[in-house]
Amino acid sequence: MKKSDKTRIGLIGAGNICRVGHGPAIIADGRAYIAAISDPDPHNRKLFAKKYRVPGVYEDHRAMLANEELDAVVISSPPWLHAAHVKDCAAKGLPILCEKPMATNLRDCRTIIDAAKKHGVYILMGHCKRFEPGHQKIRELLMSGSLGRIFQVSIFWYFFIPDFTAGALGKLVAWLKNHGFDLVRDFGFWRYNDVRTGGGDFFDHAPHYLDIIRFYGMEIEQVSCETKRCYPETRPYEDLAVATFRLSNGAVFLYDKNIVRTGSPYGFERGYIYGEKGKIAFRAAHAYKKRRMKAGIYRLLNILHGFYYPVIFPYGKKKTMFYRQMRYFIDQVRGENTIKGGITGAWGATPEDSFLTVAWTLAAYRSAREGIKITRENLFKEIKSFKTDRPHDW
Ligand SMILES: NC(=O)c1ccc[n+]([C@@H]2O[C@H](COP(=O)([O-])OP(=O)(O)OC[C@H]3O[C@@H](n4cnc5c(N)ncnc54)[C@H](O)[C@@H]3O)[C@@H](O)[C@H]2O)c1
Repeated sequence: MKKSDKTRIGLIGAGNICRVGHGPAIIADGRAYIAAISDPDPHNRKLFAKKYRVPGVYEDHRAMLANEELDAVVISSPPWLHAAHVKDCAAKGLPILCEKPMATNLRDCRTIIDAAKKHGVYILMGHCKRFEPGHQKIRELLMSGSLGRIFQVSIFWYFFIPDFTAGALGKLVAWLKNHGFDLVRDFGFWRYNDVRTGGGDFFDHAPHYLDIIRFYGMEIEQVSCETKRCYPETRPYEDLAVATFRLSNGAVFLYDKNIVRTGSPYGFERGYIYGEKGKIAFRAAHAYKKRRMKAGIYRLLNILHGFYYPVIFPYGKKKTMFYRQMRYFIDQVRGENTIKGGITGAWGATPEDSFLTVAWTLAAYRSAREGIKITRENLFKEIKSFKTDRPHDW
């Protein structure tokens, strides 16, 4: 490929993450364009095609793959479809950016890994937080020993998604749908009410931080988890989960995630890392808002004046995680290396990295169901035939 040639990207699934993340990131990069999209939903298809002036518009991804000359694809369909979509794209020899969660079960995860190997294609998994400059900076601080021994990592991440299927709110949502505003579709609420997801909010979001913990340089050794269905009549899966993990450096990782905390819908994503020489705190804005993450470090001497020193890292619209992730992906496709201030060597999450996030997610559910702790030694024995594809109440 000549430097002047533009990379032709096809999208499978043209919903929220493409409208807000991948679409603008491809345009902003400048070396690629959106040659085609496929999406069975006519509303999402038309909306996206019009906004990004996409020439090739398809209902079915197989027709797109058969008719278009593409250099790469982005898969942003719901997770239960990722394996089938990866298989078809890999058979065409196309490099792939595939969204998280990788899949809803281990069999599908293995299908993705095998397809990449069989066809020798590059797959970047959409663990976009690796490309957030704030997480990159925290990783550097932890790896350079800034906090000394690390004792605990705590993540508190809450959305407020009220039960929109019942009561007065349910009636309003139904009324809006009859008048052309389908909130369930527009906000991708399949993640809370579609049984094919294999789990609730935890399944959708835990993989982000299970991956970031490893990106910070720590492996997961053990999990213990509690989940709860706060709206059992209308939600097939949990909407609240609190998991604790033991990490390879002896630290404890607390992951507290729910969608029932009354507040602004996407209001709260904070993390704290405690070590022997101090602590780091960060606060992320909702990913779609493209606002900078804020982070600070508090050392023993800060006790005297009581405030955090800001942790400084570069920012700006084109340095947000979706832009950097897309830049990295296009770099891999074109054999270039254009990210300034990136991490040298392998950076993006591989299918194997992503597989582990799904494995530990499943282990957390099994822990919640059985009331047991699951360790790395018995991880695959415990989850081998464990299924989460029916409504679960543990
Ligand atoms: N990395 C992140 O921070 C992040 C953020 C949001 C979503 N995601 C992930 O991206 C994926 C999509 O999520 P979303 O929020 O955009 O959901 P969404 O519902 O807004 O979009 C999904 C789109 O896929 C389409 N689709 C359904 N079946 C399809 C098929 N057979 N072929 C092609 N398209 C199909 C739907 O019609 C819809 O337009 C999920 O895996 C989700 O977890 C990741």
